[in-house]
Amino acid sequence: MRHFTSVFDLPDMKDALRQAFEIKKDRFKYVELGRNKTLLMIFFNSSLRTRLSTQKAAMNLGMNVIVLDVNQGAWKLETERGVIMDGDKPEHLLEAVPVMGCYCDVIGVRSFARFESKQDDYTEKILNQFIKYSGRPVFSMEAATGHPLQSFADWITIEEHKTVERPKVVMSWAPHPKALPQAVPNSFAQWMVAAGYDVVITHPHGYELDPKFTKGATIEYDQMKAFEGADFVYGKNWSVCEDAHYGQVLNMDRTWTIGERQMAVTNNAFFMHCLPVRRNMIVTDDVIEGPRSLVIPEAANREISATVVLKQILESL
Ligand code: CP
Repeated sequence: MRHFTSVFDLPDMKDALRQAFEIKKDRFKYVELGRNKTLLMIFFNSSLRTRLSTQKAAMNLGMNVIVLDVNQGAWKLETERGVIMDGDKPEHLLEAVPVMGCYCDVIGVRSFARFESKQDDYTEKILNQFIKYSGRPVFSMEAATGHPLQSFADWITIEEHKTVERPKVVMSWAPHPKALPQAVPNSFAQWMVAAGYDVVITHPHGYELDPKFTKGATIEYDQMKAFEGADFVYGKNWSVCEDAHYGQVLNMDRTWTIGERQMAVTNNAFFMHCLPVRRNMIVTDDVIEGPRSLVIPEAANREISATVVLKQILESL
């Protein structure tokens, strides 16, 4: 595998899962694979889990790691071609990216949706410039429309906890005070369908995700109905995706906050969230602290998903 931007880049999903469990048993099994290889992690946005788990994954594989926070200590980057650069951005991405490629063997990029242009976000303009101009394998550490390392970790977590072959997995929108991208819900929906689960997505009218990502899932606007019989509940906020209100927050209805009322109609469901989470907006204290909460195991599995992805990229060098 050269680049990793979605579930469809994995050559073999089942084998990736097998490798995840293999690595979980022995994280350092492939420690020689990355010897004298360097991972460069580029962050345009903040991170706790992705930063730590990906760095740990690279260390599991014996790699050297360089981390660059573009907005803290690097030159501010212009991303538009044709711009007269007489403003506050002294360097262009088109030089910066190939320069970055000179110092490493693999590049991880975190570049969230900017909500300035849906077209730019949904064509993954920044991530694709790294793929095109760095000369290196590139993987997404959450881009504008997807967060595949998270979804892979979520999948591992569900496989570890499911008690039926095809669990009912419900992803529910929940309120949030700020506009969040659709990257996590897009990836989660796409990955869960690809995994063969019974996937239900529930959200208020107006919060429809791009059907490219939700194909194969059932959309249910009644949250309580969606939760009936759920084996796993995945809470997440996202902003409006449709063109006219792209990136806006049009609903803050806290009856959608996931609490005991909703969980009571599930099949004793596990609760999941990618974190960070705003308590008592997305989910109540009781549910996230409860015995069926998987938020910490999910975060722990980020190390495993990143190790598998980096391993497969290293094997392609
Ligand atoms: N879930 C996740 O990607 O967390 P961070 O934003 O902290 O990396």
